[in-house]
Order: sequence, then C-alpha cells, then structure tokens
Amino acid sequence: MNALTYVSFAEQWERRATIRTRPRRQLEHDDRLIYPLSRQPLAVSAVLQRECPEQRDFVLLQTLYKFINDIVIFETEIVDKTARSIAKGHFPVAFPLPCRYDAMTVVVDEDYHALVAMDFLQQTIASTGIQPIAMPEEIELSRAIPAAMEQAPTRLRAAIELICVSIAENTVTNDVAAFAKDDTVKPSIKGLMADHLADEGRHSAFWTDLTRLYWTSASEADRAAIAEQLPVFIEQYLTNDIQKRFDTQLIEALPVPPAVAEALKREIVGLAFPIGPQHPLVMNIIRFFRRSTLLDTPCVRAALAPYLS
Ligand SMILES: [Fe+2]
Ligand SMILES: [Fe+2]
Repeated sequence: MNALTYVSFAEQWERRATIRTRPRRQLEHDDRLIYPLSRQPLAVSAVLQRECPEQRDFVLLQTLYKFINDIVIFETEIVDKTARSIAKGHFPVAFPLPCRYDAMTVVVDEDYHALVAMDFLQQTIASTGIQPIAMPEEIELSRAIPAAMEQAPTRLRAAIELICVSIAENTVTNDVAAFAKDDTVKPSIKGLMADHLADEGRHSAFWTDLTRLYWTSASEADRAAIAEQLPVFIEQYLTNDIQKRFDTQLIEALPVPPAVAEALKREIVGLAFPIGPQHPLVMNIIRFFRRSTLLDTPCVRAALAPYLS
C-alpha cells in the first residue's frame, strides 16, 4: 500500500478534536424540546395529537434515550472495534503508520462521543426523573456488517468490514447535521450534536481515504466478490425493524387506553421511508462510493444499480 497517497489528519486533530477543545455541555431547564419532532414521526402522528397530545414529550424523551443508546453501541462496538484493530496493526488489511495513528485518534474520539452521550443520559434522567424504557441491545449495523462478511470468502472479510464501517461513518454525519439545525430543540442537545459533527467530518474523510487505499490495491476478482456483498449490507443497514420494535414498545409504555395504543401502532406502520434512490441515507451512501472511487469500478456500479437514480 502506498503511504505517499495518504495525508495524515494528526495536525487537524490536535487543533480541532472536541475532546481537546469543547467544554462540558449542561442540559438546560427551558421549554424547548429534548429531541427534534422531525426525527420521531410518532410524536407528530395524527392519533397522538388527537388522543394524547400530553404524551408527546415522553415520546421525545424516550426517543432521545434510544438515540443515546444507539450512539454508544455504534461508537464502542462498531467503529471503535475496527479503528482499534487498524491502529494496533492487527487488522488483516495492512496500513502504514500514519493511517494507524489517525485510526487511534478515531478510537479516542468515538469513545469520547460515547462518554458525552452517557453524560447526557445521566443529566436527562436526573432532570426529568424519568427512566428509559427497555432499550435495544443492537443497532442495524450490528447485523448488517456480519451479514455482508458472512457470505464472502474469508480473505475478503476484513475489507468488507472496512468498507461497511466507512459507509456508516459517512452516513451518520448527515444524520446528525439535520439535528443541529433545529431551533425548537434545547441548545445543549444541539451543541452536543454540533460537537459530534465537528469530529465526524474528519472521520468521514479518514474512512473514505482508507477505503480508497485498499481499493487501489485490490485485484479485479476481489473487487467483484466484494461488490456482490454490498447490496446485502445496504438492505440490512436500512431496515427499520429495530426502530419499529422500539416504537411499538414505546407505545405500550404510554398510559393510554388500549384502543388508543392500537390506533397508534396501526398508524406507525405506514411511516417508513422506502429503500430506493430517494432514501436520504441512500443518497449519502452513493456519495461515499463516488468519493472513495469505488463507483468508478463497473462491478460496483452494477451492484448498486437499484440505488442509483
Ligand atoms: Fe462519533
Ligand atoms: Fe466517527
């Protein structure tokens, strides 16, 4: 692998990493929302607004708890794992030392993001006196990455892991961006998202570069075998099974008559975004494939055809 084509982020990290530059954020006691309405359709559903509008804030609070839970899983179980393995030189795809050093900054950032998220969990529980309902033990990526690796030849599994984590690190970024712009949300929560976003801009470039480096050195046969697994990953990554199950449990935790709970459950069935070229995450995924140069390879273009508009 050619180290000359890789430019380290170490200097940028020293100056900008939020762990080095940001003060602790404190949750404020004001009337603003704890989570954006635009990111929890259940909170603005017609049935909820008609039958139990007073439950809206509980729905948003539990959705924030799930968001925090997802961040902790994503950072500590997914990104940390792959970045740490690269940093220590244990990853089956070898990278030069500057890449490994930068991977270690990613480990530090991600574990710090998990810590900040847990800080907010504690602050929010203390301020509201409301405990989280049962939280999911995995996120979509916990299944999607192993699913894509499983069917590939053993020698390509690490490369697939690298590409999947890179996709995830390039899509979460925009997810958080939408959050940071909403003025109806508490400034501390928006600040938390903005801090996270500041680090993720660096990460998305890091993962894109590593994927590009790997791809440059991969054989045609390996590229074709990897391309075949990409749709497996995308399908599972974009499923809303876990969110749906959570929303159902959240509805069951509401102190409302059974008929209202049933009506809410029927209503959320239709709220999912179909997986296709117009899905917001699909657009980010395609942008990643373009930037990492993978989309220049005909077998990748063919595998992703259903997602290209
Ligand atoms: Fe992060
Ligand atoms: Fe990240």
